[in-house]
Amino acid sequence: MIGIIGAMKIEVEALQSAMEDVRAEQVGNLTFFAGKLEGKDAVVVKCGIGKVNAALCAQTLILCYHPDILINTGVAGTLTDKLSVGDVAVSQGAVQHDLDTTALGDPAGLVPEANRVVLPTDEELAQKALGCVRAEGLNACLGVIASGDVFVSSPEKKAEIVRTFGAVACEMEGAAIAHAAFLSGVRVLNLRAISDSANGDSPVDFPAFCRKAAAHSTRITRALVRTL
Ligand code: ADE
Repeated sequence: MIGIIGAMKIEVEALQSAMEDVRAEQVGNLTFFAGKLEGKDAVVVKCGIGKVNAALCAQTLILCYHPDILINTGVAGTLTDKLSVGDVAVSQGAVQHDLDTTALGDPAGLVPEANRVVLPTDEELAQKALGCVRAEGLNACLGVIASGDVFVSSPEKKAEIVRTFGAVACEMEGAAIAHAAFLSGVRVLNLRAISDSANGDSPVDFPAFCRKAAAHSTRITRALVRTL
């Protein structure tokens, strides 16, 4: 079973429409679309924006559907010159850039219970995803993806995340999903198409390019699922 999570409707609706033998199942506030995607057993769900919504959804999905693989699909702000709008960031680890117990002597971003800063994401899935991005004629970059409960829209915040974590993209859910996956021993990958530059232009760029970016992440997610 492949679990696919997106934060916003625009990030999951095309995947849900592409499913066959699909049924909608309600668990608490979440509506899981379970069926076949590209011929594979899959469940696709919208978690809502932010790390808490994402963690609640990931844990519910893990407990109810016992996935072998979790894929987080959606859009992100770029933190590197290597990624522009429409390009795809493929995770090589996930960090929670807003988790801060440095005042107690911990490294920035140390995740309690996981007891690490960089939450692992699956290397084999990442390599497959990179192949899919290239096969679809898009530009990809492999790297750490940073999550936090903040829409990053200033050069200062952006620089701080890059300096502290060396991340290539920022969003608001991926590391929470990776956290839940890590605690349950589930393979996970984060696939994010770039919607904005995580700077002062983002409040205008994000709404303008979100649909295009979401379409790219959907395309790559479908291509990846075909290979599984
Ligand atoms: N998702 C897309 N763009 C983002 C940004 N700039 N900050 C946080 N999450 C995002």
